[in-house]
Amino acid sequence: MPRAKSPTIAAPAGVACDLLSPHSVRQRFEGSAHLIRLAVVAAAFVVLFLLLRRAVVPAGFGQYGHFRPAALKEIAAREPVFAGREACAGCHDEIVQAKSKGPHANVGCEACHGALGAHANDPSALKPTLPVAVHLCPTCHEADAAKPKSFPQVVSLTHSGGASCVDCHNAHQPKL
Ligand code: HEC
Ligand code: HEC
Ligand code: HEC
Ligand code: HEC
Repeated sequence: MPRAKSPTIAAPAGVACDLLSPHSVRQRFEGSAHLIRLAVVAAAFVVLFLLLRRAVVPAGFGQYGHFRPAALKEIAAREPVFAGREACAGCHDEIVQAKSKGPHANVGCEACHGALGAHANDPSALKPTLPVAVHLCPTCHEADAAKPKSFPQVVSLTHSGGASCVDCHNAHQPKL
């Protein structure tokens, strides 16, 4: 079947069908009020976005890159919460010595005792609470097929039957 010709809109009699003639322009924008309303709403959103952006983007952002330069100073000014391994030696030398001779030599004090920067700065300001061995030790030593076979592991329930790990092992020199 031959394709039907698309209908053509006949220009009103006596009017030259010039696309730019005032009549033609009026005709083309006839009934476009809804589009103008849409454009106004879109423009309002763009203005709102620009105002919000101005209000919430912090000063300096973008000066050197996708970050705020002042953030570096703020982070550097924070008080460290960990004291570091060397800090404990001055006052707990016996434990440091004992630990260095056993399998926990490479386990940092604060890995078990938690962050103690405040205590190391001033021991009387913060007295550390001792870790509870039955909860602490299995976090590293509970048997798990995902751990390397060479890492010492126990099934704590059958290994100690609920008794505290430090009944038999010394936390700082655990090798029996
Ligand atoms: C400036 C000396 C000093 C430094 C440094 C220090 N401690 Fe202490 N620590 C003490 C003193 C003194 C006590 C006893 C506090 C008390 O009994 O009130 C203590 C107590 C403790 C206790 C509690 C002992 C108990 O019997 O309850 C733990 C745990 C401890 N320190 C761990 C650490 C660790 C880990 C570090 C390193 C991050 C450290 N300390 C750094 C002086 C120090
Ligand atoms: C593997 C975990 C672990 C590490 C590493 C560790 N501790 Fe402990 N520490 C413990 C546990 C658990 C206790 C509590 C022992 C108990 O309940 O008898 C303890 C007790 C203590 C005590 C109280 C006194 C005592 O001898 O029981 C001090 C002080 C202490 N630790 C300091 C240190 C310091 C200093 C280091 C680093 C040189 C360190 N600990 C490393 C687990 C650890
Ligand atoms: C932060 C992890 C961690 C915690 C917590 C921890 N250990 Fe260990 N433990 C280790 C590491 C690492 C080794 C050394 C493993 C190696 O040599 O391959 C080790 C070694 C040991 C060994 C020696 C095993 C052997 O045959 O050589 C014993 C026993 C032991 N730990 C008991 C304990 C006890 C008891 C506690 C609780 C007081 C404890 N561990 C808490 C990490 C931990
Ligand atoms: C009744 C005493 C006793 C208690 C309580 C105890 N153990 Fe043991 N543990 C032993 C003996 C004995 C050995 C074997 C001697 C050795 O290899 O050092 C051992 C060995 C280990 C080993 C080394 C295993 C290996 O394959 O090399 C780890 C790790 C261990 N114990 C962790 C723990 C943990 C964690 C707890 C607490 C949940 C605990 N133990 C409680 C007596 C005990």
